Formats: sequence, C-alpha cells, structure tokens
Amino acid sequence: SPQGLGSAPVNIALSKYWGKRDKVLNLPINGSVSISLPGLGTETVLKPLQTGQDKIVLNGEQLGADVTFAKRLSLFLDYFRSDACPAFTVETVNSVPTAAGLASSASGYAALVLALDDLFGWQLPKTDLSLLARFGSGSASRSLFDGFALWHRGEQEDGMDSFAEALDSHWPEFCIGLVKVDTKEKAVGSTVGMQQTVETCDLYKSWPEQAERNLQTISQAIIEQNFGTLGKTAEHNALSMHATMIATWPPIVYWQPESVAAMQIVWQLREQGTEVYFTMDAGPNLKLIMQAKDQDKVRNAFAEHGTQVDFILPFAE
Ligand code: PMV
Repeated sequence: SPQGLGSAPVNIALSKYWGKRDKVLNLPINGSVSISLPGLGTETVLKPLQTGQDKIVLNGEQLGADVTFAKRLSLFLDYFRSDACPAFTVETVNSVPTAAGLASSASGYAALVLALDDLFGWQLPKTDLSLLARFGSGSASRSLFDGFALWHRGEQEDGMDSFAEALDSHWPEFCIGLVKVDTKEKAVGSTVGMQQTVETCDLYKSWPEQAERNLQTISQAIIEQNFGTLGKTAEHNALSMHATMIATWPPIVYWQPESVAAMQIVWQLREQGTEVYFTMDAGPNLKLIMQAKDQDKVRNAFAEHGTQVDFILPFAE
C-alpha cells in the first residue's frame, strides 16, 4: 500500500519570530533566522485512509481525536484531502520532548509536509514545501533545511512570498548546547502567547523593527562567520522577545529559577573570557550558542551547578 515518508530536524531561532500579522495564513510580523539541529527532530509515516477519520499515532501511542495535538494536525491535513484520500494515518516519532520549547512542532510539520510530498509525488522545491509547512506552524517553515535558514517575512497579503530558504554556510566550529531545565508541556502555547503580546504589550511596538535589524546583523554574521556578533545579537534578540512577553497582561513568564541560574553561568563564563551566549524560546530551557573548542569549559562550568549540557555540532561531518 502507498505511503509517504518525511523526516526533519528541529530548529532554533537566532533571531526570533514573535507575532502574527495573519492568523489563518500564519504570516509573521517579522522575519527570522535559525539553525537546524541534526539528529533531533521528527520522522513521519503517512498513509491514505479510504474512510473514517484520521488516525494519529504520536511516539507509538494513538491519540484521541479530541486531543489538541491531533485536532491541530487534522485541521492542517484538511488542506490535502480529496475524494480518493479523505483521511490519513499519521505515525510520527519525535526525538525531542513534545512541547518543551524545543520546537517539536517545527520538525513535526516539516516532516509531515515532506511525507505529503513523498506520498503524492509532488516533488516540490524546498521553498514551496516551506510555505506549506508554515500553515502548520510558523517555525516549521525553517525546518525544511539543514544548517542556517532564513524565513522571509514577505510583503504579500496572500503570503506567497513568506517562506524560508537555506543560508549557505559550512561552519564546523559552530556549536549549540542544550540546557534542559524542564521538559514538561508549556503553560502558554506560542500562538496564544503571540496574540496576547501583540494585543496588550506596549513594548511590542519596538519589536518588529529590532527583529528585522537583528535578522540582518545575524545573516551578515553567518556569511562572515563572525561568531561574537552572531552570539551577542542572538542573546539580545531573545531577551528582548522575552521582555515583550513579560510585559503583556496577564504576564507570560516562561523562565524558571533554574533558567536564570543558567543565564548567570553563561554571563560568568563570558566574564572569564569564554565566548558563550544563549537563546530561549517559549519555554524554560536554554540553548547555548558557542564554539566547539569551548565544550569542556562549558560542560565543567555547568557541572559545578549539577547541570548537564548536551552539545550539538550542526556542521559536523
Ligand atoms: O512556530 P511557533 O508557533 O511554534 O512559534 C515559534 C516561536 C518561537 O519559538 C518563540 C520563536 C521562533 O522563531 O522559533
């Protein structure tokens, strides 16, 4: 019987997407740039079903149709149903904790779109698949690519120019460290968080301009492999995004005490001359932006506080 296969990595934004200008089309208020993490992500098997409703299996467990995850997936699949294929079986396996701020929705919708492309034999270019993945989750538009990816804000109202593309780069020294503070489901999802921020945060008014400026700076730093500029700008960008979240009402604070403790370790490492930076998403975990040569120093500094760091080299052979 026919089936489609798709696999995609998670990605971490170095310059963040925060705010939608169109909720149905998932169009961002600002562009963003990311790095994909090889070895962490989603693998999806998609099969057509002749009758009935979708069967959605996440990490080996079949989900009820009323589970949020399943509802959202079925809504996305509505775009791709036909008389010949009214429903789907979706078997999806995440190698990252679901909804822990490690962007499993990004790799999930990218893998699903690749599985659709495989099942239906579209052979669409990655930029088109990126546009389709965007409908599932904005950040998924960036998970079609290995390495660095840039998701264009786009200008058009129909969103046809809002997709991601790869930023050509090979940077073996570039390293990401994962500091897991908590892997439980997040309290406020990004869609709700964004909407609340756009609607109630006065600070948000300055965000779109800063985000586009940071995006330019980081893209240029990637081309020049200027690590210091990239790290500094990414950390500043993440903290600015979190400032807008904190300044909404009711407040959205994704940080936990351990998150702040981890930030302080990073700042102390920098004071001691190790060039390490961090970024954070809609969750309490830190992602360290660092260079491969500093792995021992970073590992030891966090070990002193009883915290483990997992290192990922996005450009390793
Ligand atoms: O694509 P979403 O709806 O999961 O939103 C992602 C939001 C952030 O992770 C906080 C930022 C980003 O650009 O990935």
